[in-house]
Amino acid sequence: MSHYFENDKNLKSELRELSYKYNSSFFTFNSDNGVFSKNKIDFGSKLLLETYLADELNNKKVLDVGCGYGLLGIVISVVTNSYVDMVDVNKRAVHLTNMNIKKYKDFKGSAFISDAYENVSDLYDVIITNPPIRVGKSKVLEILEGSFDHMTDDGVLYFVIRKDQGALSIKKILESTKTVDIINKDKGYFIFRVKKSM
Ligand SMILES: C[S@@+](CC[C@H](N)C(=O)[O-])C[C@H]1O[C@@H](n2cnc3c(N)ncnc32)[C@H](O)[C@@H]1O
Repeated sequence: MSHYFENDKNLKSELRELSYKYNSSFFTFNSDNGVFSKNKIDFGSKLLLETYLADELNNKKVLDVGCGYGLLGIVISVVTNSYVDMVDVNKRAVHLTNMNIKKYKDFKGSAFISDAYENVSDLYDVIITNPPIRVGKSKVLEILEGSFDHMTDDGVLYFVIRKDQGALSIKKILESTKTVDIINKDKGYFIFRVKKSM
């Protein structure tokens, strides 16, 4: 069985379109076999996105790690007038994100392939991620703990993890060096915000 985070050239393409509305802004996303939550916007991603948007951080430089078909980064760029880079290790996900970016003339940023921060060289005000839990805890920690090396000094990390996927044990690990705030919870999904500097 192939997982959404693998690169599988033999996986047949069957494009489909997902839609999303935020206030008066309407978005559509091309999705496909082989990407995360291909048929439906994931509840945790939507909760993370809307919790982030409620913080009203405008004109920021943002990095979305594990962008999938581009939901978080595209909506954030358009709604908050921010510059957003998006990375994913999955080639099909980055291809879809690039297709989706083209639909929004107000989008500012880029999408490129990267295993965690391998190809990331800039510094960001915000790093946001719905991390790839299925890949394993060490990759999730590489993405979360590694985020602080790719941020400005006043940078902030936002992420979502489900309680039954180890949210509280990850919180505890991050708390050895940072203050970790749970800023929203719904249906077992926790939204975390972590500032680089106390
Ligand atoms: C839970 S999904 C979130 C997708 C998207 N952000 C969303 O909210 O719909 C996690 C994403 O991380 C990607 N991923 C897995 N391993 C990765 C890695 N080592 N580096 C970067 N992205 C990775 C997967 O391909 C997947 O798109």
